[in-house]
Amino acid sequence: MAVKLNTRYLGGFISQDEMDAMKPQVDAAVKMLHDRTGLGSDFLGWLELPTDYDKEEFARIKAAAKKIQGNSEVLIVIGIGGSYLGARAAIELLKSPFYNNLKKDTPDIYYVGNNINPTYLNEIISICEGRDFSVNVISKSGTTTEPALAFRVFKKLAEDRYGKDGAKDHIFATTDKAKGTLKELSDTEGYETFVVPDDVGGRFSVLTAVGLLPIAVAGCDIDKLMEGAAKAQSDLMADYAENDCYKYAAIRNILNRKGKQVEMLVAYDPAFAMMNEWYKQLFGESEGKDNKGLLPTSVVFSTDLHSMGQFIQQGSRLMFETVVDIKQPKQDFFLEKDEANLDGLNFLCGQNMSVVNRKAQEGTILAHTEGGVPQVILELEDTKEFSLGYLIYFFEKACAVSGYVLGVNPFNQPGVESYKSNMFALLGKPGYEGARAALEAKLG
Ligand code: PA5
Repeated sequence: MAVKLNTRYLGGFISQDEMDAMKPQVDAAVKMLHDRTGLGSDFLGWLELPTDYDKEEFARIKAAAKKIQGNSEVLIVIGIGGSYLGARAAIELLKSPFYNNLKKDTPDIYYVGNNINPTYLNEIISICEGRDFSVNVISKSGTTTEPALAFRVFKKLAEDRYGKDGAKDHIFATTDKAKGTLKELSDTEGYETFVVPDDVGGRFSVLTAVGLLPIAVAGCDIDKLMEGAAKAQSDLMADYAENDCYKYAAIRNILNRKGKQVEMLVAYDPAFAMMNEWYKQLFGESEGKDNKGLLPTSVVFSTDLHSMGQFIQQGSRLMFETVVDIKQPKQDFFLEKDEANLDGLNFLCGQNMSVVNRKAQEGTILAHTEGGVPQVILELEDTKEFSLGYLIYFFEKACAVSGYVLGVNPFNQPGVESYKSNMFALLGKPGYEGARAALEAKLG
């Protein structure tokens, strides 16, 4: 299995009896999920996605990726939340956080429409100057303000550069199969479109065209990614006793009920930083409702041991850590002896830096356990496509089961609307006039 749960450091925090007592609740949650009888069951398309996906579209994704690789030096990915995080997380983990700066024969990739900051937008426009670019605009609803604004800008840029007709070879839209402004606009303009399935919510959509097209443009093997997810789909049907995903969901709920309010995802690889962001959205948006839910947070060690380490070791005892233990780093670095040894580091010589990193991990796990922070370990074989596909599916299913055990609908996000309606009212969007005066009075 590409992902394994290691519970050896949980002994002082969770007993076997407590794990056993969770079985009926997990079984009930799993039954609701598989029978599609739980809350939000219209959004379970991701469950079978690794084996039941549109093969014709999958081939079109690969063809579009080749086309972009052939006609562009830069790909602009426009999307926000679930319509962007998964692709970026996968590309940074599979390739590198320095992907754009590496020597390669695939386009640089920049992400816009994930904020409304004018400086950020201007900087990316200037990066495109004099360089051939393509655009993949991604929005399931087709109406989200941030990506819609960015697309307006990059559509014009592409039309100015390539002409209205030529722009069709540089603009690709991923959206609803039939409805929404983006779908209508794409059909009118003649852009190639890809589908976000109706029954797959944004944060569960990385293994659809939403994630797959940018990931394929970066030169990653999307067949292997899907194979890994398919293996997880089959492995994670096992019963509770044999199912690490279900046990992880149980552990989260046990620790939550024992007063832990925060789960901190930890990796000892900076290339995992965007996966941390993807995980935060997945669990935060799925479980954070009805005044419930663990707050998902994240750190990259050893970097953050020098900023958050003190708090984790001795601050409020409100968290547990879930450590993604990457067994095989992409590369290693052999540490050579320095005759002068002025820095006193010769004791580290004659071994690989991965060993030093591992010792830092082991030392930290022991210290944090001692400090009263439960350590859940998820062992990840490596950071290749197969393992990543497996990990993505593992987290998605764990999130669904954990959410049902918690007693929430893991597949909606009603709270996300509040800021939007305030923003629209304050901006004077037609239809929001009523709320404007009251909001402005509150702002003073
Ligand atoms: O998970 C979700 O549903 C959200 O994060 C959405 O992905 C995000 O709000 C973007 O929505 P859309 O794809 O409709 O533009």
